[in-house]
Amino acid sequence: MTVLLTGGTGYIGSHTATALSEAGHEVILLDNFCNSHRAILERLEKIVGKSVPCIEGDVRDTALVKRTLQEYGVEVVIHLAGLKAVGESVKTPLNYYENNVHGTLSLLRAMDEADVNNMIFSSSATVYGDPQYLPIDEDHPLAPTNPYGRTKLYIEQILEDHVRANDNIKVVNLRYFNPVGSHSSALLGEDPRGIPNNLMPFMARVASGELKELSVFGDDYPTMDGTGVRDYIHVVDLAEGHVAALEFLPRSTGFETFNLGTGSGFSVLQVIQSYEVACGKKIPYQIVKRRPGDIASCYTDPNKANAVLKWKANRSLSEMCLSSWDFQRRLN
Ligand code: NAD
Ligand code: UD1
Repeated sequence: MTVLLTGGTGYIGSHTATALSEAGHEVILLDNFCNSHRAILERLEKIVGKSVPCIEGDVRDTALVKRTLQEYGVEVVIHLAGLKAVGESVKTPLNYYENNVHGTLSLLRAMDEADVNNMIFSSSATVYGDPQYLPIDEDHPLAPTNPYGRTKLYIEQILEDHVRANDNIKVVNLRYFNPVGSHSSALLGEDPRGIPNNLMPFMARVASGELKELSVFGDDYPTMDGTGVRDYIHVVDLAEGHVAALEFLPRSTGFETFNLGTGSGFSVLQVIQSYEVACGKKIPYQIVKRRPGDIASCYTDPNKANAVLKWKANRSLSEMCLSSWDFQRRLN
C-alpha cells in the first residue's frame, strides 16, 4: 500500500517508515521538522536501500497535504505528527490544541478532499490517566490528567465521530505505552532536544557522561521496589505494530482501538540494572521526591492487539537497553 506518514522523520515515524518499507509498502513522509532533523532521511534511506519522498510541511497546511495525497496516490495516512511533552503542554496548552487537534482536523479535511479514507492514529496510554485497574485494557475509563493527554482524547473522539458519520472511513487508533530503544543499525533512535524528560533517554545521557546522575522520582510507590513501574516497548516492536494495523485495515469495520505494549511492567530500578549491563558501567543515581502527576504502575493487557492484529511485542528489556546504548554511543 502507499502510506503517508505525518511526523515521519520523528522517533516513532522513522522506525515505522523502515518497518513498512521492509514489509513492501511505499512510504511518503511529511514533517515540519519542529522536533526532528532532515539528516534522518539519509539514514532511513540507507537502511531501506532506496530513496524515500519527504515533504517539508505542516499538517495544518490543508492544501499542501491534499496535493501530496493526490500526487502520490496515498491510500492510508499514519498520523504521528504532534507535540508530545507533558510538562510543556501544561505551560502552553494552546500550542498543543492548535498543533495536535487543529492539525488533525486539517489533515482530515485534506483526506476528505483527496478521497483518502484510511487512517492509523498515534494515540497514547496517557488517555487512561490514573489506572483504576491493571492491566489496562481498551475498555478502561479515559481520564487524561494533562493538556497533552486531552489533545489525544479529543482527537480520538473526533475520529470516532467522523467514522460514525461516514461508512467508508476507517480508523485504527493505537495507544502506545512507553516506546524506548533504537533500530538495530543504530542509525535511528531517540535524541530529544535539550534535557530529556523520559527515563531511557535521560539514562542514556548519564551513561555517556553527558549528564551527571539520574534522579529516581520516588521510591515509596506500592510497587515491587517502591519505584514507578511502566510497560516499556521496543520501538521496533511498536513499528511492526503499525504494519500489523495496516494489514488489519481491510478487515476493520470502522473505528478500532488497540493498546500497544508488552503487558509486562518494569520498575525504574530494574531498568537501571538492565541499562548498567548493556553499557557495562554503573549509572549514578539518587532517589528524589515523586514527580508531580506520576502514577505508580501502568501496563497493558496486550490480548486484543495480540489476537486481532496478530502482533506481539517480543523484544526484551535487555534488547531495549542495548539498542538504546548502541544509538547513544554512535551520537557521541
Ligand atoms: P517526535 O517528536 O519524535 O515525532 C513527531 C514528529 O512530528 C516530529 O518529527 C515533528 O517534527 C513532527 N510534527 C509535529 N507537529 C507537526 C506538524 N504540525 N506538522 C508536521 N509535522 C509535525 O515524537 P514521537 O515520539 O515519534 O511521537 C510520534 C507520535 O506518537 C506523537 O503523536 C506522540 O504524541 C505519539 N506518542 C509518543 C509516545 C512516546 O513516548 N514517544 C508515546 C505515546 C504516543
Ligand atoms: C511520560 C508521560 C506520558 C507519555 C510518556 C511517553 C508524564 C507525566 N507522562 O510517561 O504522558 O505518554 O512519557 O513515553 O510525563 N523517571 C525517573 N527519572 C527520570 C525520568 C523518569 O525516575 O529522570 C521515572 C518516572 O517517575 C516513571 C518512569 O521513570 O516512573 C518512566 O517515566 P517516563 O519515561 O517519563 O514515562 P512516563 O512517566 O510513563
